Amino acid sequence: MNLTPAVVLLLTLVSVCAAQVVSLPFSTARRVPWQHKSVGKMLEPPRPLRESLHRPIKHFSKPYQKPIRDFRINATTRDIKLENYFNKLYCGSIHIGTPEQDFFVALDTETPITWVPSIHSPSKPKFHLFTRTSKPYNNESSSTYTPNGRPFGVDYGPGQVSGYCSQDNVVIGGATVNNQVFGEAIIKPKMFEDSINDGILGMGFGGSNTGKEISLFDNMVNQGLLPAPVFSTYFNRYGSNGPDSMLTLGGTNPKYYTGDFTYVDLSRPDRWQFEIDRIQVSNDLLVSCWNQCQAVVDSSSSVIIGPSFEVDRLNRRLGATPLERDPKLYTFERSQLKSLPDLEFVVNGKKLIMTGEDYANQIPGPHPNQYFSGIVGKRFDSEETPVWILGLSFLRTYYTQFDKGNRRIGFAKAATFPKKFFQLPHWGHTAADS
Ligand SMILES: *[C@@H]1O[C@H](CO)[C@@H](O)[C@H](O)[C@H]1NC(C)=O
Ligand SMILES: *[C@@H]1O[C@H](CO)[C@@H](O)[C@H](O)[C@H]1NC(C)=O
Repeated sequence: MNLTPAVVLLLTLVSVCAAQVVSLPFSTARRVPWQHKSVGKMLEPPRPLRESLHRPIKHFSKPYQKPIRDFRINATTRDIKLENYFNKLYCGSIHIGTPEQDFFVALDTETPITWVPSIHSPSKPKFHLFTRTSKPYNNESSSTYTPNGRPFGVDYGPGQVSGYCSQDNVVIGGATVNNQVFGEAIIKPKMFEDSINDGILGMGFGGSNTGKEISLFDNMVNQGLLPAPVFSTYFNRYGSNGPDSMLTLGGTNPKYYTGDFTYVDLSRPDRWQFEIDRIQVSNDLLVSCWNQCQAVVDSSSSVIIGPSFEVDRLNRRLGATPLERDPKLYTFERSQLKSLPDLEFVVNGKKLIMTGEDYANQIPGPHPNQYFSGIVGKRFDSEETPVWILGLSFLRTYYTQFDKGNRRIGFAKAATFPKKFFQLPHWGHTAADS
């Protein structure tokens, strides 16, 4: 997916990687961890789906080998703690092989492939100041390794990751998934070399690009390791100062949300995509997506992305000001934050509300008292159906239940927790601080 230069610029500006910490000078712009780009796209998908995205697709293939009632009744939900890196990257641990080799992987709800760096890659292992040394996966030192060799590739927008598949046992959340096929990355773009994560935990809906590999999540379900084919996400908003972010496999964790879920059926068989009825601002209906549009929830995007012309209107309606040197980017003044209108996504007849604090204050702007708007425009190709991308700023506001068994997504208001510590200067301050 190609973003306009403006979007790339913004996404680049908001990027941070662990080695750089604290301030966000414009000169760091080149070092981009993978997530700030658009949706990761599988290279050469097996069954390119060209159906009209306006029409919900009725006939889904069955992803599971067993009917849901046969899932092991003893299985419990499993919490995987995620570490929040600057509200851009949420990473957790997985272990591959026997004996276990440890990897720190970023959660991606858009692509289904889990991959880690390979010892056979020419790039050098990473060393992260104050944090950890990454070691690539070494097939030779695992007694449970089985060769596979099929190629894999994922296009993250500005760069592609590619390599080949291998098979080994994977431990996640205390569960051992036997004979999991995963990617050994041989070629990685620079953005991955600079970011804290070793690889990706692929929680996307679809199949692999060879059409043969079964995702880690589906194997957990097939191997009876989960009580239900559901996972849920809680992303904290305070960087490392907040409560743990949490991926819950097999269900939901009630500690992290309040109220009831609003459910919406998926509109595609291969993606966490659904229909939005309307996007409105404080009950004003005529702002954006006034007669239904498509959206995906995507933890690999830090912002909300929509069609440029609609996003321009939306940002103006919210009170944002275009940046002089690049009017496609919008900013809010800190003084505006407390009086910003609500942004409302109407989904399945119910309003999912984001306050100014949810959409406006997450990305520090060009000046200390400015923030970039977390809603960014993208030009879609003429034959492409525009799809809104509800990235991390949305996912931090709404606890999200990815219900693969029922092919639906549920949203409940994320619980709020106090911050643990004082804030780092400039980064991540919220309206509540002022
Ligand atoms: C469930 O747990 C009990 C006791 O731990 C065990 O005996 C039984 O085999 C388990 N059932 C399944 C289906 O795993
Ligand atoms: C490990 O992987 C390399 C590269 O794919 C391969 O040449 C080698 O045979 C593998 N080792 C084993 C024990 O299979």
